[in-house]
Amino acid sequence: MNKNDIYQLRRIALAKQMLAKTGGGIAVISTAPELARNRDSEFPYRHDSDFFYLTGFEEPGATLVMKVDGSAGNIQLQSHLFCRPKDLEREIWDGIRLGPEAAPKVLGLEFARSNQELDQKLGELLADEDAVYVRLSESAEADRRLRHWMKQVRSQARSGVNPPSEFHDVEALIHEMRLFKDAHEIDIMRRAAAISARAHIRAMQICKPGMREYQLEAELLHEFRNSGAQSVAYNSIVAGGENSCILHYRAGATELRSGELCLIDAGCELDGYASDITRTFPVNGKFTGPQRALYDITLAAQEAAIAATKVGNTFMQPHEAALKALTQGLLDEKLLKLSELGSLDNAIETAAYRRFYMHRTSHWLGMDVHDVGSYRETSQDTSNTEKPWRILKSGMVITIEPGLYVRPADDIDEAFWNIGIRIEDDAVINDSGCELISRGVPVKSDEIEALMKNS
Ligand code: GLY
Ligand code: MN
Ligand code: MN
Repeated sequence: MNKNDIYQLRRIALAKQMLAKTGGGIAVISTAPELARNRDSEFPYRHDSDFFYLTGFEEPGATLVMKVDGSAGNIQLQSHLFCRPKDLEREIWDGIRLGPEAAPKVLGLEFARSNQELDQKLGELLADEDAVYVRLSESAEADRRLRHWMKQVRSQARSGVNPPSEFHDVEALIHEMRLFKDAHEIDIMRRAAAISARAHIRAMQICKPGMREYQLEAELLHEFRNSGAQSVAYNSIVAGGENSCILHYRAGATELRSGELCLIDAGCELDGYASDITRTFPVNGKFTGPQRALYDITLAAQEAAIAATKVGNTFMQPHEAALKALTQGLLDEKLLKLSELGSLDNAIETAAYRRFYMHRTSHWLGMDVHDVGSYRETSQDTSNTEKPWRILKSGMVITIEPGLYVRPADDIDEAFWNIGIRIEDDAVINDSGCELISRGVPVKSDEIEALMKNS
């Protein structure tokens, strides 16, 4: 399939939803703004995921406007792109712009104009349309622009123009589409995960006592960029020793010490898609007894969650399977006391595990590392009762990432102090269960030790 066809088919799918809901209307979706880092220097630019999903266009300063009419069997869709105009002076400084003349052909859209015409043209496009699909409460600036466009349409009232009367959330429609990955997306995600897996291997191979966390981060970045990934999907966590128990730690300057663990949670972004892998390994290449015991419990919990990651199960079932294995392991290792809790069921019911495992096991993964899509069933039922957890379906992608984090405490055997373990893989749900796309890096304790020994 031609790349442009992918985006056109997505726009048509969105148009169909707009037709079904309101008989058509206008959708307005802008990309992300550029962000200043400090004087004359910007953060590396990252497009908005929804906008990119519908256009494949990565430049800042762009807006997609879709005008939808017709009927289910005869959809009339016009896609208008507003983008930065060609500007030799700016292009010499900042880089080549596609420009509105070339955009329709290059991107496969019907119309393109300079973004300087957006305000005026939207006043025209919104005239006599009932339904407008925007991101509700995107930003104060987006609200201001919407008010401005509405004012323009209202100012034409005496010429017989009717302003729109309904505003709908376009995000909900796009996010439901993004939850299900097509073959093109899964192909990119497989490649992103393979690059990240290689980066984790590289870090394990190079790790030696005395190195600093930031040095391992540099190795991860080397592998990401050297493999063609454009960016990290999120800030890399490289956490030595006690830092492994800090969930949102960043790679810092802590020295990696013999006898301690190193937890790395790092993944690249490739062609707009995230990968998200965590491995935990001994800095000196050999797990201590207590480290290995907790590692193997975490891996057993991950395996239990993987077995529960299949079509027809709910989103919560992998988490529940992981909780059961983790809690049993904590009881076995006497980190939780059976004499106090009475039974495994009670330990789970009273969330006794939460002292050592305080996060969920999974999240959606896609263009965003914590990807979009409702975690609850999205029925039309508008009653206030809590909707059931989402049923897993083919094409969804989730992470599976149980962990155990033991901080120092008087009632805990010192041998377990500062052991923080997380094991995270990326799973594509398919008709026969799930495919782990991030297992290019070893996960079993023996395999990790063998890899580190031989490097
Ligand atoms: N790296 C972010 C997460 O695991 O959720
Ligand atoms: Mn994750
Ligand atoms: Mn992660």
